[in-house]
Amino acid sequence: MFDGIASRYDFLNHFLSCYQDVLWRRYCCKRLKKMMGESPRGSNTVRLLDLCGGTGDFADTFRKIFESGCKCACKCASQNGASRDGAARGFVVDPAVIGDFSYGMLAEVKPKKIDAHAVQLDAMKMPFAERQFDVILNGFGMRNVPDARGALLESYRVLDAGGYLCVLEFFSPRNLFNKFFYKVLAPLFIPVMGAFFSGKRDAYEYLVNSIIRFLPVDQFCKMAEECGFEVNQVKMFDGGISFGVFLHKPGNA
Ligand SMILES: C[S@@+](CC[C@H](N)C(=O)[O-])C[C@H]1O[C@@H](n2cnc3c(N)ncnc32)[C@H](O)[C@@H]1O
Repeated sequence: MFDGIASRYDFLNHFLSCYQDVLWRRYCCKRLKKMMGESPRGSNTVRLLDLCGGTGDFADTFRKIFESGCKCACKCASQNGASRDGAARGFVVDPAVIGDFSYGMLAEVKPKKIDAHAVQLDAMKMPFAERQFDVILNGFGMRNVPDARGALLESYRVLDAGGYLCVLEFFSPRNLFNKFFYKVLAPLFIPVMGAFFSGKRDAYEYLVNSIIRFLPVDQFCKMAEECGFEVNQVKMFDGGISFGVFLHKPGNA
C-alpha cells in the first residue's frame, strides 16, 4: 500500500497535518538531543536507526538538529546540553540507517541526499546484531506493523544499553475531542483529500481506521515497559492528535 502513495507521501503528510508533523518531529529530535546531552555516555557520536522510516524525513530532521552546535571533545557540554560559550552541544551522527518494508518509500530517500543507508527490512525481524544503535526513531510506524510488541522487542534488542527509542504516533482516541476528530471529522476529509492528491482513497481510509483500531497511548506505554523499556516522557501534541513517547533502555540492560 505504501508503495502506491510514496511519491505523494511527504506532501500529503504536511498538507493533511497543516505542517504540524514537521513541528512534532522537530520537538522529538530536540528532546532526544537534550536527553542524550544529559546522559553520562562518553562518546559524542550517535548511531541512528529510523525504523519504518519511509521517505526519511525523521532521520533528516534528526541529523540537522543533532549536528547543530558545539562538537568540541571537551566535557563542557556533557551535563546541561550547553557548551562553555553557550552554544547547544552538537553531536556527530554516523550515516543513519533508514529501515522500511516498502521499497517505494525508500526510493524517495535518495533524491533528498540524506547521509543515510536505506535498508528494506521487517521491523519485527531486523537484520542487525544486538546493541547496534544509540537512538531509534519510529514515526507513525508502530500502528502499521502487524505486531507492535514484536517491533518493540526487536527495537530493544538492537538498541544499545542507555539508548532511546522515540515513537511518534497517532494513538487510539480516548478523550472527547480526539474521538470527535478521529471518528467524525477525519473520516470525512482525509480520504477525500487523499484520493484527490494521490488517487488512493483506500490508503487514506486505512489511515483513519488504523488509528481507531490501534492501542491508546497508556496501553502502548504499558506494553513498552513489559518489553523492558523505561518510559521517560509522553508528550501530547495538539490536544492528543499525536503523541511523542520517549522510551529508554536502562544503562545496565
Ligand atoms: C506512515 S509511514 C511513516 C513513514 C515515516 N516514518 C514518517 O515519519 O513519515 C509507515 C511506514 O511503516 C512502514 N512499515 C509498515 N510495516 C512495516 C514493517 N513490518 N517493517 C518495516 N516497515 C514497515 C511502511 O512501509 C511505511 O513506510
